[in-house]
Amino acid sequence: MHLLYAFLVLLSLSDGSDPHCPGRCSCDSVQSVQCYRLTEVPSGLPSTTKKLYISHSKIQHLQLSNFTRMLALEDFILLASGTESVENDTFKTLSTLKTLELWKNKLRRVPRALPANLEVLKLNDNSIYVLHGSDFEGLTKLKTLELKNNLISAVSPSMLSSLASLQSLMLDGNTIESVAGPLALPHLKHMSMENNKLRIIPANLFTSLQSLQFLSFSGNFLTKIPVTLPKSLLSLKIERNQLKVVRFRDMKHLENLSHLYLSENSLSSIEGAQLLANLTTLELSQNQLQALPLRLPARLQKLDISNNLIQRVTAQDFQDLRDLKHLFLDNNIVSLFEAGALQRCSQLSNLALEQNLLLSIPLRLPGTLARLDLKGNAIQDIAERELKDLKQLQVLNLRNNKISALDLKALEGLPRLRHLYLDGNPWNCTCSLLRAREVLKAKGTDVRGGQCAAPAERQGESWMSSKKIMRQCEPHLRLTEKSKETKKKSKPEEHPSFRINMDDDYYDYEID
Ligand SMILES: *[C@@H]1O[C@H](CO)[C@@H](O)[C@H](O)[C@H]1NC(C)=O
Ligand SMILES: *[C@@H]1O[C@H](CO)[C@@H](O)[C@H](O)[C@H]1NC(C)=O
Ligand SMILES: *[C@@H]1O[C@H](CO)[C@@H](O)[C@H](O)[C@H]1NC(C)=O
Ligand SMILES: *[C@@H]1O[C@H](CO)[C@@H](O)[C@H](O)[C@H]1NC(C)=O
Ligand SMILES: *[C@@H]1O[C@H](CO)[C@@H](O)[C@H](O)[C@H]1NC(C)=O
Repeated sequence: MHLLYAFLVLLSLSDGSDPHCPGRCSCDSVQSVQCYRLTEVPSGLPSTTKKLYISHSKIQHLQLSNFTRMLALEDFILLASGTESVENDTFKTLSTLKTLELWKNKLRRVPRALPANLEVLKLNDNSIYVLHGSDFEGLTKLKTLELKNNLISAVSPSMLSSLASLQSLMLDGNTIESVAGPLALPHLKHMSMENNKLRIIPANLFTSLQSLQFLSFSGNFLTKIPVTLPKSLLSLKIERNQLKVVRFRDMKHLENLSHLYLSENSLSSIEGAQLLANLTTLELSQNQLQALPLRLPARLQKLDISNNLIQRVTAQDFQDLRDLKHLFLDNNIVSLFEAGALQRCSQLSNLALEQNLLLSIPLRLPGTLARLDLKGNAIQDIAERELKDLKQLQVLNLRNNKISALDLKALEGLPRLRHLYLDGNPWNCTCSLLRAREVLKAKGTDVRGGQCAAPAERQGESWMSSKKIMRQCEPHLRLTEKSKETKKKSKPEEHPSFRINMDDDYYDYEID
């Protein structure tokens, strides 16, 4: 069925054999036409066409006469076609038009006299450098306005005053240096001005944005979080700015705020975050925090405080965080991790502690952990008591530590272990390490073993797959097998050779 369809599309693309479908276009049954590599807007389209999609064409100029017969057109999308200008009133008479997208062209201004029924206007990736109030006149039904990656340098209320129904305003990637308030957009839910040049947000910007839920100013030069944010906010992003302090007192009216993103700023301390009682996600990566925040919101589910200067993790830091699921503390300088520090976090499934200064695996970690990353620390051994409670553990990363031997009992106590990363450690490839290899193999764990550092004659051998060590240790392995009558015998050579696992240790933090 799909093949047949693809064949038909190809046929119509190549020679326009469908008499109603213009050349270089494909037409499907729901009055939708898609065209590529055109030099003009197709003229012979059926007047019932609802959707016209043109991309990768050369159409410098659009004019009224190109659309006169499109009486039913609802969506017009013109992508990457080098369009520089649009004649006045070109779209004015298209009373059925709901969506107009002119992405990746060379427009220097918003097309004039847009039709009143328009709901979606996307002009991303053009060279529009200024907005006028008249650009959007009469667009009282417009819900979505996207002007990402243009050259707009200022935004003021008069430009947007007609847009009474606007729900989403995307102005990312411009050169906006100033915004003036109040923006009177009573239905606006999403507003994004990422990657602009804002230094200051005027206090009155939000006074008439009483529905705003998602706000992003990431990638600007802000030194302060605006104090007048609307209390309807659910998510606030101010990453990659120049924040030095966050005054949570000024934010405590944001009672529904659940997501706060403050990574890549210059924060050296966080105090009062508990005032945001409904916060579930807090991201503070790449700041200069030297200690964990004193009191954190009790409903927190995800805390990312990686890439800071944290030295200690204590039970006091986490005593209230019973809902915490994901904790990222990687790339800090943690050398002290109090035993049982996370015992109260009875939902914790993900703990990232890689690239710290730990000398051993923290004791009494919560038994709910599914993933534990300890890569790049200075851990010297794996003890049974450190891992014995981790019955849910699926991924354990101990790459690049200082471990030379494996305690078999420690690994036998991890019933759900699927991935184990052990490479980059100075393995002492004794025959007892080879026994550990057999146990892991029997469990079906996917292991990255790495290379032997000792004894001298085995240096550089890969201990999970080396036939040489296997041969040398064979008598030892047999011996133990004979002594344990309950275990079934298996000659190592009979096993299929080990698969070389090409995965990296990248994994999503949401695992089942
Ligand atoms: C628009 O229509 C005019 C004639 O009405 C034609 O000359 C021109 O090529 C058309 N332009 C495009 C881009 O289709
Ligand atoms: C297009 O419209 C603008 C204002 O609506 C006007 O200033 C301009 O002269 C018009 N251009 C043409 C070619 O009619
Ligand atoms: C917070 O969320 C609740 C439930 O969705 C809603 O009823 C309430 O109006 C919201 N509060 C504010 C200030 O928006
Ligand atoms: C948390 O949000 C709920 C609605 O989602 C709201 O009713 C409640 O007041 C908020 N809690 C606090 C402490 O602000
Ligand atoms: C490797 O283990 C053997 C046996 O336990 C021990 O004698 C030897 O010193 C160890 N080598 C290194 C480099 O630790």
